[in-house]
Amino acid sequence: MRPNSLILAAILYTVACSSRALSHVPSLLPRAGSLEQVTDFGDNPTNVGMYIYVPNNLATNPGIVVAIHYCTGTAEAYYTGSPYAELAEQYGFVVIYPESPYEGTCWDVSSQSTLTHNGGGNSNSIANMVTWAISQYNADASKVFVTGSSSGAMMTNVMAATYPELFAAGTVYSGVSAGCFYSNTNQEDGWNSTCAQGQVVTSPQNWASVARAMYPGYNGTRPRMQIYHGSTDATLYPQNYYETCKQWAGVFGYNYDSPQQVEQNTPETNYATTIWGDYLQGIFATGVGHTVPIRGDDDMSWFGFA
Ligand SMILES: *[C@@H]1O[C@H](CO)[C@@H](O)[C@H](O)[C@H]1NC(C)=O
Ligand SMILES: *[C@@H]1O[C@H](CO)[C@@H](O)[C@H](O)[C@H]1NC(C)=O
Repeated sequence: MRPNSLILAAILYTVACSSRALSHVPSLLPRAGSLEQVTDFGDNPTNVGMYIYVPNNLATNPGIVVAIHYCTGTAEAYYTGSPYAELAEQYGFVVIYPESPYEGTCWDVSSQSTLTHNGGGNSNSIANMVTWAISQYNADASKVFVTGSSSGAMMTNVMAATYPELFAAGTVYSGVSAGCFYSNTNQEDGWNSTCAQGQVVTSPQNWASVARAMYPGYNGTRPRMQIYHGSTDATLYPQNYYETCKQWAGVFGYNYDSPQQVEQNTPETNYATTIWGDYLQGIFATGVGHTVPIRGDDDMSWFGFA
């Protein structure tokens, strides 16, 4: 061999070895196309589980949807039981599925810490997941959304109130207003029957103060809110629909008693849509119980993907 060939052989050998070595470096990023757990997303004061779905079809500067499960649910159950992972493939966003750390897997929407911006509760952990994902995927911070069902819907309202700077919009499937599940003994993950049974009734102004107090002094934009509730909900009584709409109407300065528009049989028969303005609409489903079916395509429109 001529010296040049030796050098070339040495280079080829080195390249072969290092690429083999590289292929053995464990993947540090969650795999695309399946539900993956993330354990190192940052400060996690209340041990909330973080699961993520990164689509095969990940967009450049993707959006993020935080999808929050109901009591007895898990990240896995909401991943399989909701349309967001499939929609992620269509629109290229990342889905974060937080998982409750408590027995019975309800969310803490009752303690002072979770009801406070950077208060060290569940809401704080979920916010940290969002911050991690924004930097990890170079996400578009103006396209971060939150949604959930039942206890996850309560948490959606709490996230919107405690971290208004993080979210552009939220969709609430059968929840209660932020602060309604408040525990007067500061219990984490407490159940508030007075609220659940629709007996916490107050004015838009009072509800707005409750929401604003969760991030005192915040004066930036807040997420647009869309509220779904069923008329025969026997778990979280339908009064909670009105109280939640009052809360956000108060926050956005809409006159709760005179909405812009009420559309009967919209988006389907027996559903009525009330529009207060660009930032708030409520959808009341007559004859529907505690589980209002998730309307994936409508969520995509509300979030601005479709
Ligand atoms: C339930 O929540 C309301 C506020 O929505 C609060 O006034 C009440 O004290 C709470 N009940 C308990 C038992 O913590
Ligand atoms: C309120 O607005 C001022 C001026 O724009 C800003 O400096 C301050 O950080 C804002 N407060 C909060 C809590 O965002």
